[in-house]
Amino acid sequence: MEIVSLSKSVPEMAINGDEPPPPPYVFNKQSIFGSIDVSPPYGPFPVIDISLFSPPSSSADVHNELEKLRSALISPGCFQVIGHGISSSFLDKVRELGKQFFELPMEEKKKYARPTNQVEGYGSNMIVSENQVLDWSDRLSLSVFPEDTRNLHYWPQNPSDFREMLNEYAKKVKSVEQTLYKAIAKSLNLEENSFLKMVGERAPVRARFNFYPRCSRPDLVLGVKPHSDTGGITILLQDKDVEGLQVRVDGNWFKVAIIPDALVINLGDQMQIMSNGIFKSPLHRVVTNPEKLRMSVAVVSEAEVDKEIGAVDELVNEERPRLYKNVKNFGAVVYESYQKEQIALDTITA
Ligand code: OGA
Ligand code: NI
Repeated sequence: MEIVSLSKSVPEMAINGDEPPPPPYVFNKQSIFGSIDVSPPYGPFPVIDISLFSPPSSSADVHNELEKLRSALISPGCFQVIGHGISSSFLDKVRELGKQFFELPMEEKKKYARPTNQVEGYGSNMIVSENQVLDWSDRLSLSVFPEDTRNLHYWPQNPSDFREMLNEYAKKVKSVEQTLYKAIAKSLNLEENSFLKMVGERAPVRARFNFYPRCSRPDLVLGVKPHSDTGGITILLQDKDVEGLQVRVDGNWFKVAIIPDALVINLGDQMQIMSNGIFKSPLHRVVTNPEKLRMSVAVVSEAEVDKEIGAVDELVNEERPRLYKNVKNFGAVVYESYQKEQIALDTITA
């Protein structure tokens, strides 16, 4: 496998202004996922109030909200969540400190550099093949749970309250995640811990700060190429000012609106497997902006690596036979299929 090395990082190219993007960043218009449209219509992504899932809500309210959730999960697999209890000022702080980190000089950020072939740390694309089209983004990816798996040497000490912020944000988001896993189970009339049991108590959770510098050619270059998320659920804090996220619904791309205090939820492949295909992990991508940088924070959770996941028993019957084989370490399946340009879920059909 040949590793492509680029002379400049994405932020350096962005600072240098309007020189054309280097060829490895130019997205192929013939892609099966359609060409780049920087401003398609807003999509049908409902807003779910998760405060209704806790007392003192009336059973009618709970029922209605669960029904809304179930319908969103069947399609498009993307929705926004309010009533999560995280204050607006704290969300601003997360965005602010994230931006401050990315604005540090490269030498400073390199202290937290991701080693080649590892996921944790600061860096740009993980380059796995020569023909790979590169994303116009930098990332800081950190393991946040279980707590004993944190590698603090990748956690920025600059800005000085970054670590404390991330510790607090991770805890708050974890509680949202637990609420969602339970609500998703209840929406299918399952015992509320059905999915939580399957992902395991030591399910790894990672926080990924995504930084998309401005790009002179949004028509040619994507911030992140079309992909579905691998894990159970992804909880995404969007930039407050700059749009960019698009989700594919029935073969068309739609924009996700900015709702400043809402969290965007994308269902991942593992939830598609555990729900026996009733729920879908949507394809999504990020477009670039010619004037402004965009920052987002994704918190992704997946099943314990050694734990076998598969369709919950109650969701398999004669009318709906098992769609996917049970699988361990789905991350490795994704990595392998990525290199062969296959869709991971297609490689494990029953
Ligand atoms: C991701 C992702 C979207 C965004 O991190 O997997 O899809 O808006 N991010 O940054
Ligand atoms: Ni994603």
